[in-house]
Amino acid sequence: MSLTNLGVSLVKRLPAERAHTATIRALKLGLGTPLAAKPDPESLAVTLPISGLKLPNPVGLAAGFDKNAEAFGPMFKFGFGMVECGTVTPKPQAGNPRPRLFRLPEDRAVINRMGFNNEGLEPFVRRLKNGGPRTGALGANVGANKTSQGEDRLKDYALGLTAVWPYCDYITINISSPNTPGLRGLQSKSELADLLTLCRLAADTQTGKRPVFLKVAPDLDGEAIADIISVVKDARGFLTGLIISNTTIARPDTLQNPNKTQTGGLSGVPLLAPSTEVLAAFARGLGGTFDLIGAGGVASGEDAYAKIRAGANAIQLYSALVYEGPQLATRIKRDLLKLMAQDGHTKISEAVGAGL
Ligand SMILES: Cc1cc2nc3c(=O)[nH]c(=O)nc-3n(C[C@H](O)[C@H](O)[C@H](O)COP(=O)(O)O)c2cc1C
Repeated sequence: MSLTNLGVSLVKRLPAERAHTATIRALKLGLGTPLAAKPDPESLAVTLPISGLKLPNPVGLAAGFDKNAEAFGPMFKFGFGMVECGTVTPKPQAGNPRPRLFRLPEDRAVINRMGFNNEGLEPFVRRLKNGGPRTGALGANVGANKTSQGEDRLKDYALGLTAVWPYCDYITINISSPNTPGLRGLQSKSELADLLTLCRLAADTQTGKRPVFLKVAPDLDGEAIADIISVVKDARGFLTGLIISNTTIARPDTLQNPNKTQTGGLSGVPLLAPSTEVLAAFARGLGGTFDLIGAGGVASGEDAYAKIRAGANAIQLYSALVYEGPQLATRIKRDLLKLMAQDGHTKISEAVGAGL
């Protein structure tokens, strides 16, 4: 058993949040981390078509794993093509009372109601600045403090966007956490239009260009998807892509573990099919005018390939790391190469949207 595998099995015995804290601590110390990322084959390299963001491979680490930007260097060494830190809010906040993170092992799923626990923008930005060399794209995911209401909530996003702008490769506007009351209301037509207008004005004060993504929920019906599409189309030029999706508030009948009754967002395997359906709906509606990143339930090369065939230019994952360990990115890349070869693709981008 390698040090990494031994570490993973020990950490799995801890309560979920303590396991995560221990993992971040070990990563910061460099324990069980590869010395360097192995170079990726050219066939896995991706240039996102709208923003031009370059990724060495399409397998990303989703937001929430490294909320305070403490461990992105080691996670790049595990082979991720992008690592998204955050969600960060302007002021530090404690998040919801514990316990707030639950494993559902039989379901290969997780439920969390963390509530944007984070140390705030100041240390986050300092760590982005000092983070050292990276082998992929570094993302900063910004959100609003729980205590910020109305106009102040929108201003939190503008504050976050301008603070991280110089120090990251892309920015994600997260309006889809189910654990901050009212946040998902920002997905409604008028609130979203106001938010994107304010963020565009903030971006206009900055130098250079940055890919900006909007992260949406999977709990959207056809009308809600159409509303978001109509608003984001007006924000073209500033907003370059969507991340689809965050966790779900739905509880599929298939769930086995008693933790299924916990309040919060469900992620992992049960989210794969619904989030991929919503991704495909956005892909059909947007017709290649935005970069699309698929997230939700990816635990294998097949799952990643399914998202890409449903229109994703790249994918992100988090929950499967809990069950599969940090070598997962490497396994997914190896399996993606096999799946591409079976379909006669020489570049991963040739598979984007092939199943639509
Ligand atoms: C414990 C936990 C914390 C998360 N925190 C955040 C967060 O702070 N910001 C965010 O945008 N998404 C957050 N997410 C959502 C993930 O980034 C991802 O969109 C979602 O879990 C679906 O992917 P997965 O099934 O591979 O986990 C979190 C997910 C989990 C499991």
